[in-house]
Amino acid sequence: AGCGKKDGASPAAANEWKVGAYLSLSGAETQFGKDTQEGTELAVEEINAKGGVKGKKVRVIFEDDKSNPQEATNKVLQLINRDKVVALLGEVASSRSKAGGIVANKNKVPMITPSSTNPDVTKVGPFVFRVCFTDDVQGQMGARFIKEKLGKNKVAVLYASDDLYSSGLANEFKSEAKKLGLNVVAEKSFLKSETNFTTYLNEIKSAEPEAIYAPVYYNAMVPIARQAKAAGLAGSMFVGGDGWHADSLVHDAGEEMEGAYFTNHFSPDMPAPLSQAFVKKYVEKFKREPSALAAQGYDAAMLLFDAMGRAKGDTPEAIRDAIAETKDFQGATGAITINADRNADKPIVIVQIKGKKFTYFDTVSTK
Ligand code: PHE
Repeated sequence: AGCGKKDGASPAAANEWKVGAYLSLSGAETQFGKDTQEGTELAVEEINAKGGVKGKKVRVIFEDDKSNPQEATNKVLQLINRDKVVALLGEVASSRSKAGGIVANKNKVPMITPSSTNPDVTKVGPFVFRVCFTDDVQGQMGARFIKEKLGKNKVAVLYASDDLYSSGLANEFKSEAKKLGLNVVAEKSFLKSETNFTTYLNEIKSAEPEAIYAPVYYNAMVPIARQAKAAGLAGSMFVGGDGWHADSLVHDAGEEMEGAYFTNHFSPDMPAPLSQAFVKKYVEKFKREPSALAAQGYDAAMLLFDAMGRAKGDTPEAIRDAIAETKDFQGATGAITINADRNADKPIVIVQIKGKKFTYFDTVSTK
């Protein structure tokens, strides 16, 4: 104390890039945050091994928002005002990315969410981007998959009404189902705080659907799958979205969900060479297979570093412009082009749960 130096004035600080990352490192969706952090760490290690960006090393400052939107707002403000970061990475869950994105945009610091898919997230303004597809695309693909690939005509929908991601995806799914002539025979919604789904599942069962669309996070899907089995509904009837992709789903409900499918960003067994190169590096470092979150975390960071390198200046504004100009960036999840709405144009991956494992099924163009 009393040395008189201002924060950020040390020579070491001047010689590095500071990037902020806010994630759910504790709370309900901890695994989302941890997986993303690991992917991001791998990216930082890789870029710094190559000498960093424009000759300066990159440091990512991680903050835990405790799976809470209000806390996401606080952490983003802190990263901007206290740490003076040039850019932000985060969050995973759409509700928190929207909250954090509003602050980032207001302060003119670019933010890239690795995996928030709700359409609203990037609509907050010109400084907010994503490297994943959106739920209008994901919901449509879910409906098409059930109708065209599985050949089913009667579907039930089960979702969390007080979660931006879950309710948004359910809505997109329903409007596409209508267009396709896929009949929604039951629609049940619950609150995130609920843990007993038996009544909803019994009502779904009596409507006799051939498939059940459940765009919920893994932490809700585990009890739903177990209670569905007890209610006499086959796990193979379930179709979900990217929110399912956490190890604990197959670990805790793999048996109950045998045969189920979901739309996703990535699968560790997908054949693309860049995906496989990433998987190899990740397994070496973390001794387990990367989830889609990890791959998206890696891609968001790598795309940001690439943009920082291309930017006409070192300011958040210049970095923003470079992110916006990203075309055909070669990531672990596929080729990413940032479009005029600051969303990523990229294909979608279908994953199946087989023998308690996530198994690559198909890659579909979203065009
Ligand atoms: N897409 C989800 C959301 O927007 C988050 C998520 C991404 C979950 C990837 C799992 C895998 O909230």
